[in-house]
Formats: sequence, structure tokens, C-alpha cells
Amino acid sequence: MKEESNANRLEPGHCGIVKLRKVGIIGLGHVGAHVLCDLVNQGIADEIVLIDIDREKAECEAMDINASMAYMPSRIKVYAGTYGDIGDADVLVNASGKISLSAASNDRTNEMRYTVAAAREIAPQVRASGFKGIFLNISNPCDVITSYMARELGLPKGRVFGTGTGLDTARLLFRLSHDSGVDARSITAYMFGEHGNAQFAPLSLVSFRGKPLAEMAKTNSKLNYSQDDISKAVIQDAWTVVSAKHCTEYGIAATAARMIKIVLGDERSIMPVSAMLEGEYGESGVFAGVPCLLGAGGVEEVCELPLTKAEWEMFHQCCESIRNNIALAEEM
Ligand code: 2OP
Repeated sequence: MKEESNANRLEPGHCGIVKLRKVGIIGLGHVGAHVLCDLVNQGIADEIVLIDIDREKAECEAMDINASMAYMPSRIKVYAGTYGDIGDADVLVNASGKISLSAASNDRTNEMRYTVAAAREIAPQVRASGFKGIFLNISNPCDVITSYMARELGLPKGRVFGTGTGLDTARLLFRLSHDSGVDARSITAYMFGEHGNAQFAPLSLVSFRGKPLAEMAKTNSKLNYSQDDISKAVIQDAWTVVSAKHCTEYGIAATAARMIKIVLGDERSIMPVSAMLEGEYGESGVFAGVPCLLGAGGVEEVCELPLTKAEWEMFHQCCESIRNNIALAEEM
């Protein structure tokens, strides 16, 4: 095309007709790179900025994904950038981490040594960029780092949230789908609480499009779970994968991509995320994994579902565990 023919072209996003969807990804390890891949594969964004402390790595991730663009569903502009490039992003993802630290003890709190320091580097630069969009935190321990980022970024309520138990819920849904033969999209179920070893599955909330788990279990003994066993199995799923491949990436990338798609499309869908509780479930001032209504404003509502007394108590234990870890992070 001749250059002159482009001269009068109105830039999308500046002409009031088309709004470009811009996403920034901080941290291009296994997780950040897979989030990038899912966003591109599913055509979820129009422009993606990659930021990594290793600039060459970010540039090569951009180069590599750009080599796939000819065969992707849409053309997406992907490039390695700086914090100067993300001030006008709609969504910013924090995927910084060092999984080897968690893997050594099957405990995400051990990753704080790396991720708290990284968060302290990242937050002032995001603030200085003028970013006003939705900040999605993946960095572990997810509830702790999300809480730190929310405080440091000072964005309006709901704009900072974490992938939280969204990923663990996908693991639970897979198990339920496998044992019942029902597609995961027809099942309602959640992992609640900490994206960590204190999370649990409130089985009273599990339903197959309205048919309670207990009813389904009458004709399928595989569905006769104990809450403790299924919760432990879901928690262990992460560590089983990590022990063999030294990371997890597909599940978390799909989880983050789904959340970003909901936000960018203002879908107003319900998903479990790490959200700030302000009285919901009898908890305040803590980020924890609960079902939330997500939309263009991020977490638009925390959905309070009826837990049994035992589940309610278990949830409070999770919140205590998160609070303890936040206190540990503060001391670092
Ligand atoms: C996961 O659950 C380790 O947080 C990571 O896959």
C-alpha cells in the first residue's frame, strides 16, 4: 500500500468508532508467555505490550508470537515495551514469579522472597505510568500479592483482583466432569479461599445445572466425595504437575485469558477470583477467592452464596491463613 493512502486513515481508538483492546503483560516466564499465547490464539486483545526484566526475552517472545500471527484468527500488535507504554492499557497482568521456590516445599508462600520484591519494583512504575485500567494479578502467593498491589496502586474498588481460586476451580470442574461425564460448562462448583494449601471445595454449592451433587451421587458413586478428599486432590493437582514439568502454565493461562475476555467484553460473567471482601462472608479487609461478577469495571460484585456452617468456618480459616501470609510479606 502507498503511504499516502494511509495518511487520512483515522486511527482506531482515536476516532470514536473502534476501541482497541490493549493488554500489558509483566513477566514473560512460562505463565506470562502462555497468557500471551491464549490472548493471541483467541483474539482477545488488539495490542499486547510485553515487559520483562530481561528485555531480550520479552523481545524474543514478541518475535516468536509474531511468527504465528499469519495463522491466527486476527492481527494483533505484539511488542516488547516499557512501563511508558502501558499507561493507556485496558488490562495489565502481573505474571512475575519463580515457581522453583514454591516447588521446593509445595507451598506458594515460599515464593514471596521473589514476588514481594518484584511487586515492590513493579507497583511504583505502574503508578507512574498513569495506568487506570484493570490490574489482574497472577503472581504468587496470589491473594497476598493482589492485596499488596491493590493497596499500592490505589485504583478504584474492583479494578485490582487476582486469578485466585479461578485456576483451582478449573481443576475441580475437570474432576467433576471426568467423574460425572457432564461437560464442565454445565457444572457449577467453586474452590473457595486461598489460592494455596488452605483452599477448599464447598460441596453444598456444587450443582449440575441445578441438580445438586448429592442427588447425582445417588446414581453415581464416584460422586460421593468427602470435602476434605476432593479439596486435597485439587490442591495436589498443582504440585503433581509442577513436580514433573517444573511449572504449570495451560490452566493458569486459560484462567487469566477468560478473565481478561470477560473484562474487555464487559460480559458480566461470574467466576471465582481473589477479590477484596468488605463484609461479604463475614470477612473484611482481605483478598480471598470467592465467586464474583466480573465486567468492564473488574470485580463489580462479590457473590455471596449460602455456605453451610462448616464451610463458613473453613472459609474463615482460609482468610486467617491469608492474613498471616500478608503479615509475613509486610515483614520482608
Ligand atoms: C498453580 O496452582 C503453582 O499457583 C500455581 O498452578
